[in-house]
Amino acid sequence: MGLLRVIDRDGVEHEVQGAYGQKIMEILRELDYGVTAICGGLCACATCHVHVDPEWRDKLPARQSDETELVSGTEEYVAEASRLSCQLDFTPALDGIRLRIVSQE
Ligand code: FES
Repeated sequence: MGLLRVIDRDGVEHEVQGAYGQKIMEILRELDYGVTAICGGLCACATCHVHVDPEWRDKLPARQSDETELVSGTEEYVAEASRLSCQLDFTPALDGIRLRIVSQE
């Protein structure tokens, strides 16, 4: 298990425990204030959209073209920060990651 620092849509930061090996979306989906992830992780909905804090971005895998295409069409798109959390594995290297939920409920 590792720690995620999750900022909800009201700007409140929460400390959340998550199991390594899960997608970050799977962890966020379990939270009352989390993501809906309506496509279930198929990179087809953008309802798992998060903004990742700058110090963590280099630890993430590069976006694939389908993720970029989908997320860049959202109102909350910020090129350097936007990720689809269903495309991110939660690993020990990401213990302590800080991110903000921006997808619509
Ligand atoms: S859950 Fe649909 S794109 Fe991530």
